[in-house]
Amino acid sequence: MNDINSYKGELSFWFMVDKDVSAGEKVAKKVVKKVAKKKEDKGPQLIDLPGVGPGAVAKLEAAGIYELMGLAVLTPTGLSDMAGMSEAVARKAIQAARKMMDMGFIDGLAHEEKRKELFHITTGSKNVDNLLGGKGIQTKSITEAFGAFGSGKTQLALSLAVGVQLPIESGGANGKAVYIDTEGTFRPERVRQFAEGIGANADKVLKNILVARAFNSDHQMLLLDRVADLIKDGEPIRLMIIDSLTAHFRAEFSGRGMLADRQQRLNRYLHNLMKVAEQNNLAVYVTNQVMSDPAQMFGDPTKAIGGNIVGHACTYRMYLRRGKKDSRVCKLIDSPDLPDNETVFMIETDGLRDLDV
Ligand code: GTP
Ligand code: MG
Repeated sequence: MNDINSYKGELSFWFMVDKDVSAGEKVAKKVVKKVAKKKEDKGPQLIDLPGVGPGAVAKLEAAGIYELMGLAVLTPTGLSDMAGMSEAVARKAIQAARKMMDMGFIDGLAHEEKRKELFHITTGSKNVDNLLGGKGIQTKSITEAFGAFGSGKTQLALSLAVGVQLPIESGGANGKAVYIDTEGTFRPERVRQFAEGIGANADKVLKNILVARAFNSDHQMLLLDRVADLIKDGEPIRLMIIDSLTAHFRAEFSGRGMLADRQQRLNRYLHNLMKVAEQNNLAVYVTNQVMSDPAQMFGDPTKAIGGNIVGHACTYRMYLRRGKKDSRVCKLIDSPDLPDNETVFMIETDGLRDLDV
């Protein structure tokens, strides 16, 4: 890398264009202290990158990037957008982070070890948990539930927000939930009912769910950075719910010729979601609406919004629909490691209840 020095210059130039240098220095000093502390238990940090000084670290942190991995997984355009730097500088910083991280292959055994760190979160229904491999949704992955209105997507979300708080041996992850609500459908009284249904203290359960209303797709994207900040500040968040993933994108990019834009932004958002999930060992549950597909002549003509972009980004996809006698049918689709299968459950006042399959 003979260009490391030129990149050093460029990078420090960029970071020196700071109006309030003394304030910047103070922040930087704090950051250095924190980073120095972190260094003892973790591997290389942002501060260890050639050409990245304390001021640079402060700027990266302000853009929501705290670790080498956070930097390494970005694209130059992405970083340039987030941190307001030139694409060339961004590219060099990312390359340096990748080089330092030794991003490459790990053997299957190490991979298996890594997977042991995963947490699982019960949905509250044994049937649905079994459909998902036995223990519910898992961390470091995105689980999507799509279906028509009233199919149970939000009820499942609320049940998960309670489930995540359970101790590990009871099917939870001993953590908190973040609920990003795009449509104002979060219902504390439903959480109360679910909590009481399992004999938990409803006030405590509600306190462990951090709810934010996202007013548009930009806001929805920004909230993701905020979640990363909360985790960094020590909040033991193990579940992030986005209800709904697609509604804002769909409403804002509805005109003719806007589809490509919408898909591109959705794609970026999903990538960021996955990154936050992987870096923080977090489960992500997203809901998605359906539309009818006039091209489909046989079978169920409903299709998830967002098409392949969403389909490929989500690790597990569940299709929810109303079944007989007010039951809900939950079907697993295209899972990387589980058979396509379906099951049924009921939505009751005090929680989800299983039906015999
Ligand atoms: P949209 O957000 O509109 O797309 O739908 P959704 O899939 O999120 O629907 P949701 O999960 O909110 O499900 C709503 C349904 O859950 C209702 O139609 C009821 O059948 C059921 N439900 C909600 N609250 C209760 C309750 O307190 N008791 C019972 N028994 N059922 C409930
Ligand atoms: Mg809903």
